[in-house]
Amino acid sequence: MQIVKTAVDLNQVLNSFRQQQIGFVPTMGALHEGHISLIKASKSHSNTTVCSIFINPTQFNQKADFENYPITLTEDIELLEQADCDILFLPSLTEVYPNGTAAIKPYPLGNLANILEGAFRSGHFEGVCQVVDRLLELVIPHFIFMGLKDFQQCKVVEQLLKMPHLNHQAKLITLPTLREQSMLAMSSRNRRLTADELEKAGELYQSLLYVQNALMPGNEKACLQKAADNLLQNGFDSVDYIALANAHSFELVTHWDGLEPLVVLGAAFLHGVRLIDNLILPVHLKGLY
Ligand code: PAF
Repeated sequence: MQIVKTAVDLNQVLNSFRQQQIGFVPTMGALHEGHISLIKASKSHSNTTVCSIFINPTQFNQKADFENYPITLTEDIELLEQADCDILFLPSLTEVYPNGTAAIKPYPLGNLANILEGAFRSGHFEGVCQVVDRLLELVIPHFIFMGLKDFQQCKVVEQLLKMPHLNHQAKLITLPTLREQSMLAMSSRNRRLTADELEKAGELYQSLLYVQNALMPGNEKACLQKAADNLLQNGFDSVDYIALANAHSFELVTHWDGLEPLVVLGAAFLHGVRLIDNLILPVHLKGLY
């Protein structure tokens, strides 16, 4: 695996691969099996796989979250080598933002940036757009691979790729969430939990599963409330939201007709660590017959 740290070197290395398909996996490091599944998918879709590790300050709305973000570079490099990743792009802040971190391009996301994660993490998705836009500009991949654990982020990047003024040609490929034994969605932030907390954290998945199983047209509010209560009864500090959204348009759903494709999403704090998860509900005709 080649490790490159500057935009100039990246371009030079990639120039000899540009005739063939390039797959790109953007990350903030602290890699886990979920990231490695993205690298594997990229390897099977593309001729050359580029992974980036860059902890993007502009997407953090809390200074402490940025400062506490886990850094495990030596292990990350080892995992990427084992997964046979071709290129690791490891840029500095000035390589990514040579003109400073203030975003100059507009990223019109509409309501998508204002609901759920966007509401609780003000400015987060603008920061995600800013860094993904810049990384795509540098890597110019054919495919970008992202995990569905960050469902709303996948929707945001889908929008970003359609913004005509950015002119990106990459196709987004999303992959299913990988889970720990407790069914907790794999995440870099899980490293901040003890073994006991990791076990308890599986309750977020159980709450979403409860919604999946109990939801009927007419009981939406009660069902979401019960799922949130379940988290508080099982040791979570607080719940930001448990909500339903249309799995395609990502509009919030308060009244379900039993047919609309849904995703149930949750965000909650356990011992000061903010966890998010979601389940795409299987299409069914519940409550209609
Ligand atoms: O999902 C992440 O790790 C980050 O939001 C991303 C896409 C690498 C942008 O910094």
